[in-house]
Amino acid sequence: MTSSEGTGATSMRTGRCGELGVADVGRKVRLCGWVAHRREHGEHLAFVDLRDHSGLVQCVVDGTVDIRSEYVVRIEGTVRRRPEGMENPALSTGEVEVGDCTVEVLNPAEPPPFVVEDRAEVDEAVRLRYRYVDLRRPRLQRNLRLRAAVCGAIRRAMDRQGFCEVETPLLWAPTPEGAREFAVPSRLHQGSFYVLPQSPQLAKQLLMVGGMDRYYQIARCLRDEDLRADRQFEFTQLDMEASFVTRDDVLGFVSEAVLDAAEAVTGERPATIERMSWENAIDRYGTDKPDLRAGPPLADLTGVFDGTAVRAFQAPAVKGLRVEGGGGTSRARLDALTERAKALGAKGLAWFRVVERDGAVALDSPLDRHLGDAERGGLLAAAEAAAGDLVLAVADEHRTSCAVLGQLRLEVAGRPVGEGPHRYVWIVEFPMFDGMDAAGNPVIAHHPFTMPHGDDLDLLTADPLAVRSEAYDLVLNGWELGSGSIRIHRADIQARVFAAMGMTAEEAEARFGFLMGAFRYGAPPHGGFAFGVDRLVAILAGEESIREVIAFPKTQSGADPLTGAPKPVAPSSLAELGIRVVAPAPNPPPGQG
Ligand code: AMO
Repeated sequence: MTSSEGTGATSMRTGRCGELGVADVGRKVRLCGWVAHRREHGEHLAFVDLRDHSGLVQCVVDGTVDIRSEYVVRIEGTVRRRPEGMENPALSTGEVEVGDCTVEVLNPAEPPPFVVEDRAEVDEAVRLRYRYVDLRRPRLQRNLRLRAAVCGAIRRAMDRQGFCEVETPLLWAPTPEGAREFAVPSRLHQGSFYVLPQSPQLAKQLLMVGGMDRYYQIARCLRDEDLRADRQFEFTQLDMEASFVTRDDVLGFVSEAVLDAAEAVTGERPATIERMSWENAIDRYGTDKPDLRAGPPLADLTGVFDGTAVRAFQAPAVKGLRVEGGGGTSRARLDALTERAKALGAKGLAWFRVVERDGAVALDSPLDRHLGDAERGGLLAAAEAAAGDLVLAVADEHRTSCAVLGQLRLEVAGRPVGEGPHRYVWIVEFPMFDGMDAAGNPVIAHHPFTMPHGDDLDLLTADPLAVRSEAYDLVLNGWELGSGSIRIHRADIQARVFAAMGMTAEEAEARFGFLMGAFRYGAPPHGGFAFGVDRLVAILAGEESIREVIAFPKTQSGADPLTGAPKPVAPSSLAELGIRVVAPAPNPPPGQG
């Protein structure tokens, strides 16, 4: 880096606004930026707050100036201390100002659609329509720079570990990751389409067959799925793959990249990432994306109510959730939680306010009088509950009890994802399949290129739901950050997995013949991972939505209010592509529909 890059100096300016301080007093400076505010003091004095990405500085102009908010100007003057009592501790430059200023208008501006300040509450559609104005706000400036720092740290970590950055095609063929795909019509092959990659999954496996050994890419991925706070059509993954590795090698490579990135932007290196089996995650948190910040894990009360006389607890699994300090929860709130539990699929919700009665710990609950002493004591012990706590319980099939209480655990804690601390956890030992689809075929849990556990190959057809896989996920504050697996590298095993999924040999050949072909030409054992850069950056930036860390995101409905995309293309372009648009059915005339 040259010194001029370091200070921001160019032929037009001597440096940046937000970096001036007492050390610069007496310096003649030339600054460029946007007019943040302008105040007149009578006819002879004007104060102009000049802003660039580094911050604001107050400039004092003798006389009047014909400028307004968001004009782009160049101001020349001399740095001086502010008069005593006029310092502004809220500004990085608050001890100084630029005096004796001359102002040159580089470009006038219309009044902005909203004030360029973090405090201004602006409708998201308006923010995205005028994203170029929104981007001037400190929050987005900070987020995009944090994003760049994260990507820089990831690159350095991957380079250091011997990974080679390779770009893979955007015009590609289907890559099953479970979402709908974006298709791109071909002009030269009319009637045929490229598919934008949901991830570089197949390309990176082919790179392994090609002897690349260790590949990574900060890769753009495209998925046509319903948009949410943690989902966009276009997003970015740190995608990696390595040959001759075990699961633990991959976990090690990824940990380095993630922890380096976190350290680069928070200044602190998170502790080694703990591991949890998928089964444990479901049992203790009711989900494979546990938020370790949201209070204690679920307690198992099944043994406590084994042989109970309480009808509500006569079920295969009874799970408990201790809400620390929740003993004062109102009846109305408990009724609302019960309704919520039912909406989530439970038959009901039992609650116990833990109170102190006559110097002893007791339970305040409509169910209390039906409980035996052993049950009362067992419940308190298993939930590790003390006076002042609340214990919620659900009795049902194991998956239901866990899932319902796991969800209530999150809702009761109500912690925004971007709120610290950052709790990472690896989830390992996933099952190969998630359940059965309507046609009676097992649904793949990760993707069909995941290696089944070596001991379970024979179960692929006999008992698919019992097959374990070599897949793993990384979870941060309850968001899935990424997933990966050791892959299938043998054509015969790949064919067996496709068959177990209900694919005919012909279908498998038509869709993935190129991959199976590659596996026959010397495919090394390999495995890899991909994590969502947008998600990691959002959490590190303390944001609740990845839209806040993407320069030009789409709205919830997939539109871009700035460019108007998606929009029709010219008929001549359609003709070139050999495409005729079947217009959506017009609305029926009033009274006929
Ligand atoms: P997966 O489909 O789990 O795995 O994706 C990996 C990670 O990418 C991020 N992600 C998204 N981020 C924003 N918007 C989306 N629509 C979106 N979809 C996914 C998530 C997710 O955890 N090829 C495999 C990885 C592998 O096996 O190596 C894959 O793409 O953070």
